[in-house]
Amino acid sequence: MERPATPAKPVVNSLLAAGEDAVLSFERADVGVKRESQRRRRLWRLATYVGLPSFYLWYRILDHRPFNIFAVPNINWVMWAPLLFLVVIVVGYVVFMLYVRRSPHTLYRPEQIDVRLDDVVGIDAVKAEVVRSINLFLAHKTFAAEMGGQPRRGLLFEGLPGTGKTHTAKAMAAEAGVPFLFVSGTSFQSMFYGATASKIRAYFKTLRKIAFAEGGVIGFIEEIDAIGGVRHGMGMSSLDGVAQSVTCCGSLESLPASYLQAAASPVTNNYISDSTGGVVNELLVQMQSFDEPMGFMRFYASMVNALNSLLPVHWQVPSPKPPRANILLIAATNRSDSLDPALLRPGRFDRALNFNVPDQAGRRALVGHFLAKKAHHDELDEPERRDIFAGVTQGYTPVMIEQLFDEALVNAVRRGDNKMNWKDVEGARLTLHIGIGQPVGYTDHEKRLIATHEAGHATTAYLMAPERRLEILSIIKRRDALGMLVHGDSEEIYTRSRKDMIGLIQIAMGGQCAEEIFFGDVSTGPAGDLLYATNVAAQMVGAAGMTGTLVSYAAIQGSTFNNTNIVGRVLGDHDGRNKVEELLQAQKLAVKGALEGNQHLVAALRDALMERNELVGKEITAVLDAARDAGPPPAVIDLVAAERERDRQQERESVVTT
Ligand SMILES: Nc1ncnc2c1ncn2[C@@H]1O[C@H](COP(=O)(O)OP(=O)(O)OP(=O)(O)O)[C@@H](O)[C@H]1O
Ligand SMILES: [Mg+2]
Repeated sequence: MERPATPAKPVVNSLLAAGEDAVLSFERADVGVKRESQRRRRLWRLATYVGLPSFYLWYRILDHRPFNIFAVPNINWVMWAPLLFLVVIVVGYVVFMLYVRRSPHTLYRPEQIDVRLDDVVGIDAVKAEVVRSINLFLAHKTFAAEMGGQPRRGLLFEGLPGTGKTHTAKAMAAEAGVPFLFVSGTSFQSMFYGATASKIRAYFKTLRKIAFAEGGVIGFIEEIDAIGGVRHGMGMSSLDGVAQSVTCCGSLESLPASYLQAAASPVTNNYISDSTGGVVNELLVQMQSFDEPMGFMRFYASMVNALNSLLPVHWQVPSPKPPRANILLIAATNRSDSLDPALLRPGRFDRALNFNVPDQAGRRALVGHFLAKKAHHDELDEPERRDIFAGVTQGYTPVMIEQLFDEALVNAVRRGDNKMNWKDVEGARLTLHIGIGQPVGYTDHEKRLIATHEAGHATTAYLMAPERRLEILSIIKRRDALGMLVHGDSEEIYTRSRKDMIGLIQIAMGGQCAEEIFFGDVSTGPAGDLLYATNVAAQMVGAAGMTGTLVSYAAIQGSTFNNTNIVGRVLGDHDGRNKVEELLQAQKLAVKGALEGNQHLVAALRDALMERNELVGKEITAVLDAARDAGPPPAVIDLVAAERERDRQQERESVVTT
């Protein structure tokens, strides 16, 4: 007779049906089932511990033989005091040693965590992977037993500070309904020899213990590079030796603060790796220890082993198979290239999630998320404003956007309002972007010079790189800058063309050219501009093959310039330096020519700046548009000189005729 088909297990069903963005139902998943059975077991244990003694006490009472459990026995303190003192010292020492070797974690129960996955916004790709990991974690038994898979053990969160690594890990624990053991890499470090490794062992032991008691646990090691740095002799990337056929293409950064770094050599943490006896090794070992038996299982296994040692081979009792501890260990770092390659191999932190700065759509979503909680005027609900905000905050991390709104709220309070408006947000962006303005009393000449210089930058951008978005033009001192032009890409871009790079150099040159045209001299003002222009030019020459040479200076190995970035390598080479010089000189010539023919634009912007000190966004282009429409002022005709010239001409003619 044909057997009826077994209905598919609900967990498998829900794992398959959960898809990309839904988290499995906790109660029906393996973790929930295990937690419920553990809860019942704990209740039974409690009932036994309380019930048996109570039963005995009631029995004595009913038997008319009650006894006082609080009665203190009669003790001869003179005799016992020295012994007690000794015991106190020994216990104190043991407690101290246990204390310094304890696990340094902080435990959060899921109910204590107020962050859910809905609060993780603007990083959809990462979120989808996170949901997959949670579902595999919740249905770990099904995945292993019925599908034969190896559940994920380690996740590595890598990304810039403030991109949401800790935030996402907390949300994962809350969604998974399991405890969250937070620990920072530095808290493992100890001044006592061997205590660092002991703390790591204690942390993993706690993870295993809680995983058995609660059905699962999520561990989170913040800044793992503090303990997981490359060991000596392992200073190569984790992918070395693997045949690579992937060509990585990327964009070039062009801002001086972030120019492309030379091939970074991994950071080695000598103190941690060597002198404390292999902390990394301990971490590696512990990452393999999730299946070690605990408590009674351990005792049972040792009993079976002892028995087997006495029995002949054909009578051996099978060793118990320890249950699997359901642990998901997440480690966060700002630099995964500084980690020991062994930590990143499959079975350890094999799945790396990159937390990048959010794109425009992500920032737009973050604006909505943060503004929902912060008091604001209706104008900030207008979709156009939010789009503009998302557009001008390219490169901002989520925490920067959050901080910006907090700063805007501070501005609102300063205005005497309890809600922020658009102007508060703009002001906050200005403060965060370029610092707090420190008005200083410039001399008239200096103010004119600075205004001309800044107007030169903006006019150059207007004329020669119209695709740049002019954001702020200011002659208010901020940080080290006496004045500044803030300009950005008009769209979110990830690569730059040769024309874009040339445009950046030209804008930087505009200030110096304007000084030369209007004052016939140059000041120290353009020092920062030249640094910027040199950086961009060096990248064009040495990294992007934009100036005739296709040699990448990033490939230089074993030279004296090896330890510098690409700019250092290019400038250290005679040919490279000449190419940079030629490029800069040529662009300066082009900019000077353009500004000479449009002096009225520079003058108009200069005058507007001297009057208003700061122009924002459209205010800059409005001044330039108006000046362009008005055209250059009529040339001043020197009537006296013309008269003299006419006289001289007449004199010459009379001489010729006589
Ligand atoms: N994707 C996001 N959605 C909503 N809020 C976010 C997001 N990312 C970050 N935040 C906010 O930014 C704050 C800081 O983020 P978090 O502490 O997770 O950064 P991190 O990546 O761990 O930084 P670090 O590398 O310095 O530890 C969070 O408390 C949260 O308020
Ligand atoms: Mg963090």
